[in-house]
Amino acid sequence: MRKLCVSLSKGGVGKSSTCVSLAHGLALAGKRVLLVDTDDQGQDSFLLGAQSTYSLADVLNEDVTAEAALHQARDNLWILSGGKALSGIKRAIGRKDFGAEQTLSQALAPLEGAFDFVIVDTSPSWDTLTINALFYCQEVLTPVSLEILTLNSLVEFSERLKTVQNYNKNLNYKYLLPTFWDRRVKKSSEILEQLRKYYPDIVCDPVKYSVRLSESAGFGKTIYEYAPNSTGAQDYEKTVQRILANA
Ligand SMILES: Nc1ncnc2c1ncn2[C@@H]1O[C@H](COP(=O)(O)OP(=O)(O)OP(=O)(O)O)[C@@H](O)[C@H]1O
Ligand SMILES: [Mg+2]
Repeated sequence: MRKLCVSLSKGGVGKSSTCVSLAHGLALAGKRVLLVDTDDQGQDSFLLGAQSTYSLADVLNEDVTAEAALHQARDNLWILSGGKALSGIKRAIGRKDFGAEQTLSQALAPLEGAFDFVIVDTSPSWDTLTINALFYCQEVLTPVSLEILTLNSLVEFSERLKTVQNYNKNLNYKYLLPTFWDRRVKKSSEILEQLRKYYPDIVCDPVKYSVRLSESAGFGKTIYEYAPNSTGAQDYEKTVQRILANA
């Protein structure tokens, strides 16, 4: 069971869009996929148009088991929803005397082996649930917006990741996914070149700026459902193939 954390401590870089697009892409490729939303914005359920009875907060609160809280959002695709209730949970985790960073791993342990992929979405901040996600996962994917200044955030995030890797030895910084690429904008291509220079092994082909992708959000449809022939669908499909190839 591969566990992939999608994270960068910066808002609006495309984390949730990436999580939903990759999760559904992998599900369409025949893999059993679980999407776990650790963000209190609860955006992933909205993007999938999914209305779960239970959420990740209920699981972490030990009100329901992880199995009972799963909501099937599509064929092969299940979600553990995020949402506002996670704010209180984060405070409770922060008050634990020890083992705080293992809270998510323990809560999801009963699901071990039940899926081919677990994709974990994180909030834009370096909070207790983001740290928990990095202790749970073995792979990290960072979306980097080529539109806004994210390079400083990327360097800072990479440094923090190294400190987690001292404890979670299985954690690999695997993919850096440039997002919001607009070839007409000089700065956008310049940042892409810089990323390729400094992170040659992990930079994926970029996801272009796609109006279709932002529109799909409002319809509770994934890009493969809303605009299967769009550049957004094609770009995410490429990333899905790279992940499947485990490259
Ligand atoms: N490639 C893209 N082209 C155009 N719009 C996009 C693209 N990717 C994402 N968006 C839009 O940009 C906005 C931010 O994306 P998203 O919510 O995925 O970012 P995020 O990193 O999860 O944000 P947050 O940090 O708040 O959780 C959304 O409105 C989304 O629809
Ligand atoms: Mg998000």
